Amino acid sequence: MHPLISPSILNSDLADLRGQLASISTADVAHVDVMDNHFVPNLTWGLPVVQACVDTGILPVDAHLMIEDPDRWAPAYAEVGCASVTFHAEAAAAPVRLAREIRHLGARVGLGLRPASDITPYVDLLSEFDMVLVMTVEPGFGGQSFLESMLPKIRRTRSAADAAGLELSVQVDGGISRQTIERAAEAGADNFVAGSAVFRAEDAAAEVEALRTLALAHCHSH
Ligand code: DX5
Ligand code: ZN
Repeated sequence: MHPLISPSILNSDLADLRGQLASISTADVAHVDVMDNHFVPNLTWGLPVVQACVDTGILPVDAHLMIEDPDRWAPAYAEVGCASVTFHAEAAAAPVRLAREIRHLGARVGLGLRPASDITPYVDLLSEFDMVLVMTVEPGFGGQSFLESMLPKIRRTRSAADAAGLELSVQVDGGISRQTIERAAEAGADNFVAGSAVFRAEDAAAEVEALRTLALAHCHSH
């Protein structure tokens, strides 16, 4: 599985979204965090801003929905052309129905897990998803430290996917940097969200390349 670098624009210069997306055009996708002030104690943006990112055509958009009631709100993100839509397991009433709806609308679908949520209850549902997002910080804010304690969950998720013969993407989000990406890759992650590491770097595009090189050297060959 080829590693993907997914910069999160959360802590970029939000007055210049087009410019920020252009500055990471070496990336594979743009990770766009939707927060509703209920599922997490922070508020970002909703559908119109995500659609504006999609419409720039600069990068495929990976929508990370940290919102309550994704059953109601998530399909629209597929409809406006997001390449992938991730909702949180903790918030979804009917995750399988919602995953099928998002796929039917033509997007890839991800299942997000907060640090305290285990993958075990979802192991039998993995074929319904293209991606599992293992949060490596408590969701809500950029710039937090990577939680080493999430490495076993990354390993369990990768093993479960391998055991089921699935080409599942395992995404990590939170505290990913040159210092932590190798351990996440070794544990089995292949999709790396990085916010502050990329946008606080002097050259965002070069930082993306540096992260990709480190990930490539440590990713499992699938
Ligand atoms: C946090 C968001 C992340 C955030 C990551 O809840 O889901 O995508 O932007 O930021 P860093 O890479 O700075 O931890
Ligand atoms: Zn995110």
